[in-house]
Amino acid sequence: MDLYEHQARELFAEHGIVVPRAEVTDSPAGAREIARRLGGRAVVKAQVKTGGRGKAGGVRLAADPAEAEATARRILGMDIKGHRVGTVMLAEPVDVEHEFYVSYVLDRAAGRFLAIASAEGGTEIEEVAATRPEAVARIPIDPAVGVTSAKAAEIAAAAGLPTQSADVLVRLWQVLVREDALLVEANPLVRTRQGRIVALDGKVTLDDNSRFRQARWGDAPDTGRADPLEAAAAERGLNYVRLDGEVGVIGNGAGLVMSTLDVVARCGARPANFLDIGGGASAQVMADGLTVILSDPAVRSVLVNVFGGITACDAVADGIVRALDTVRLTRPLVVRLDGNNAARGRAILDDRAHPLVHQATTMDDAARRAAHLATAH
Ligand SMILES: Nc1ncnc2c1ncn2[C@@H]1O[C@H](COP(=O)(O)OP(=O)(O)O)[C@@H](O)[C@H]1O
Ligand SMILES: [Mg+2]
Repeated sequence: MDLYEHQARELFAEHGIVVPRAEVTDSPAGAREIARRLGGRAVVKAQVKTGGRGKAGGVRLAADPAEAEATARRILGMDIKGHRVGTVMLAEPVDVEHEFYVSYVLDRAAGRFLAIASAEGGTEIEEVAATRPEAVARIPIDPAVGVTSAKAAEIAAAAGLPTQSADVLVRLWQVLVREDALLVEANPLVRTRQGRIVALDGKVTLDDNSRFRQARWGDAPDTGRADPLEAAAAERGLNYVRLDGEVGVIGNGAGLVMSTLDVVARCGARPANFLDIGGGASAQVMADGLTVILSDPAVRSVLVNVFGGITACDAVADGIVRALDTVRLTRPLVVRLDGNNAARGRAILDDRAHPLVHQATTMDDAARRAAHLATAH
């Protein structure tokens, strides 16, 4: 789960990183009040879970409380890369002398973390990374050792960050470890004209597997989510991503679902979504998944691709049959069951004999039929 900037800022502050004074509000009048408390001038910042807010006009300096109110009125309700702005944060303006970039990210392939840092931080960092990769230092971090003062000094030296930023580098690592984050980023981390090191923007992605001990952030889905189907899926706890094709896809296990998308594409159709129902395949999950997929008008067929393991195919077939009692199937469903108890699962679907449910024995065959059903006129 991604945190909002104001939440990341709060975590940074708790770990002793200097951040500007700031408060959030969802109303223009509230913005005026906050600007007054901050001393008049304020940076008004859209709170959306996406980057590039500055370039999109979602970060603006207001000279006084009246301007802060007018600016908040303009930013609230704005759409930034598909995220609607529901709240703004007003932050004390900082006298920036130089902007740096620093982040820690999980490098899954290497089984390590990676420190990414640059002396050319700010809103152009993607451009810098693309055109002059040598300006961005990438330093592996052994997770068992972490970022010690020595490691922090190494990162600072490699990236051309000021020596005094080493302390912040250690603290940002502590945010990552103690808050169960997979990503911690400060961009920009600045040196002020007064010579202080301050984090002006923060991004933190928490590991969803540790939600049980990070209850403080709640488990409310991202309400700013632009796609209504993704929002509906998130409310039902489904692992769903909308794509722009015409074959709905349901599978168990992220790897199998990804391969299914590839096979559908190879059969000349386009997948309409990614949906991993994971290990359990209850009637409820199946019904929820079908409901979300079928409410996409672009979907012309649905492919269920299940390899039975701990959840056996007969349980999946039961789930499908019971889901058919609650969901009105309006488009054909191609089901491929293989693995544990596949024969029993297929028999259950044969018994149900739903006119729109077709069975296939291999993944290729299933994808071909689903693609054909979706593209034939
Ligand atoms: N409190 C602040 N004081 C001064 N400048 C700021 C402040 N907050 C942001 N900025 C400026 O605005 C730019 C964009 O803001 P930022 O919070 O990084 O949003 P984003 O990365 O989403 O564009 C920063 O690079 C910085 O130059
Ligand atoms: Mg930023």
